[in-house]
Amino acid sequence: MAQVTGQDRGPAQPAAPTGDDPNAVAAPFDPDIVARLADEYLRDGSAGVPAATPPASAPPSGPGFYFLTEAPFAGGFPGFGVNEVRPEVVPRLDAGPGQFDVMAVRRDFPILDERVHGRPLVWLDNAATTQKPRAVIDRLSSFYRHENSNIHRGAHTLAARSTDAYEAAREKVRRFVNASSAREIVFVRGATEAINLVAQSFGRRHVGKDDEIVITWLEHHSNIVPWQQLAAERGAKLRVAPIDDQGQVLLDEYERLLNPRTRLVSLAHVSNALGTVSPVREMVAMAHRHGARVLVDGAQAVSHLRVDVQDLDADFYAFSGHKVFGPTGVGVLFGKLDLLDSTPPWQGGGNMIADVTFERTVYQPAPARFEAGTASLADAVGLGAALDYLGRLGIENVARHEHELLAYATGALRSVSGLRLIGTAREKAGVLSFVLDGFRAEDVGAALDREGIAVRSGHHCAQPALRRFGLEAAVRASLALYNTRADIDALLAALKRLQGGSASG
Ligand code: ALA
Repeated sequence: MAQVTGQDRGPAQPAAPTGDDPNAVAAPFDPDIVARLADEYLRDGSAGVPAATPPASAPPSGPGFYFLTEAPFAGGFPGFGVNEVRPEVVPRLDAGPGQFDVMAVRRDFPILDERVHGRPLVWLDNAATTQKPRAVIDRLSSFYRHENSNIHRGAHTLAARSTDAYEAAREKVRRFVNASSAREIVFVRGATEAINLVAQSFGRRHVGKDDEIVITWLEHHSNIVPWQQLAAERGAKLRVAPIDDQGQVLLDEYERLLNPRTRLVSLAHVSNALGTVSPVREMVAMAHRHGARVLVDGAQAVSHLRVDVQDLDADFYAFSGHKVFGPTGVGVLFGKLDLLDSTPPWQGGGNMIADVTFERTVYQPAPARFEAGTASLADAVGLGAALDYLGRLGIENVARHEHELLAYATGALRSVSGLRLIGTAREKAGVLSFVLDGFRAEDVGAALDREGIAVRSGHHCAQPALRRFGLEAAVRASLALYNTRADIDALLAALKRLQGGSASG
C-alpha cells in the first residue's frame, strides 16, 4: 500500500528566481531536484509501488476467456459479391488469449438489455461513446463505497487506498499502451484536454513565429482548433495534409509539407468520421526525419486495435476513457518522459507542486506536474477496470471480430440502392458513414432511433473531412466489440423500410 504522506508530496526546494525553466516559475532548473523528485514519485506514488493490493471488497474478475460461436463471414448481399467486400486490410490477427464469444460479451453490458421505443436497443454510436461493462460499473461503485478519499494527501488509510487504486490504474494504462514508465502517463479529462495540454505547454514553448504545425484533413475538431489557436497566438502556420477519395492521407503530399520549420505533427490514428486507419508508424518516422515531434490522437483507435507507443515511436499519444469502455471525465496523455519532464505545466494548483513560496514555485516532475487539482479519481480507477476487461477479452480477438463485422456491414450497406458510403479506405476500423439519396442525414437518424437503433447523424465534429466529400452531414454507424450481425441486419432492414416508405413512427 502507498505510504501515507503529508499534504502535496515533496519537500521544500531551495531555488532562486529565473525566467525560462520548465520546472519552476521564477526558479532555476535543477536537474538533480527533478531526478530526486522523480525518485520520490516512483517510491511514493507510482511505478515503484508494488502492485496494489485490491481492497477486500474489490470486484471479482470477469470470465477469463471466451469461445468462438460464430462461423466466419462467408455470405454476400444481392448485388455485392463477397470478394468485393472492403476494407481489404485485415488487422494483425495474432491469437489473443482464448477466443471470443460475442453473446457472452453482450451479457457483460447491462445497458444492451434496454428497450428504446419498445424495441431492443441497437447501439451503433460507439464512435461517440462506448457502453460500460459491469466490471467498470461495479468498480466505480466499489471505489465510492470503500476507497473514496483524495490521493497523495492526508494521514489516513482511505487516502492510501485511493492513492493505490489511482496509481494502479496508471500502471494499467502504461501496460495497455506499452509505455516504458508509468511516469509517462498523465491522467486528463479526455483526448481533447490532452491535445490542448500539449498545445498550451509543449506548443507554447517550442512553436514560434513562422514555425509550422502539420495536421491532416481527417482530423476531429479537437485536433484542429487547439492548433489554430496556438498558431494564431504564436504567428505560426497550420498546414493540412490532403486525403484521397477513399479518405486516406496522401503520404507524398504529407511528406512534402514537412520541413525544418515543422515543429509538431498531430494526426488521428483512426478517423472518427471515416474510420480510416492511418499508417501512423510510417508518418511518425517521416516527421522525425524532419526533426518534428508527433502527437497521435488515438481516441478512435484504442478500442479497436493494439496500440504500442514505443513501436509507433509517438512523442505524445492521447485517448479518452469513455471511448474504450471506461467512464467519461477521464482520459490519457502519454508523453515521452524527457519531453514531459522538460515541458512546463499548463495549469497550476495543488498536487503539481513540490514547493511554493510567494516568490516562486517548484513543480513536481511528470506526471504530477500536469495533474493540478483533484483528478477524476474514481473514473481513472474505472478506466483501469475497463482496460483489464479488454485485456481479458484480448484486443486481437476484438479486432478480428470487428473486422469480420465491418466487412459484413460494408456489404450490407452497399446492397442498399441510393446509399453512398463515405470513407472506403483499404484499412479501416469499425465506422460506416453514409448518405442516402432523398433523405437528410438527420431524418435517417431519427427514423432509425424510432426503431431503437442509435447512430450519429450530423458533421461528426469533423466538418473539413465531410466537406472534402461535398457534405455537411452524414449518418454514421460505428461498431464495437459487442455488436453482432443481428445489429447490422436490423440497420439494413430499417434503412430498406425507410426507403420503401414504411419506416415505423
Ligand atoms: N468525437 C465523438 C464522435 O466522433 C463525439 O462522435
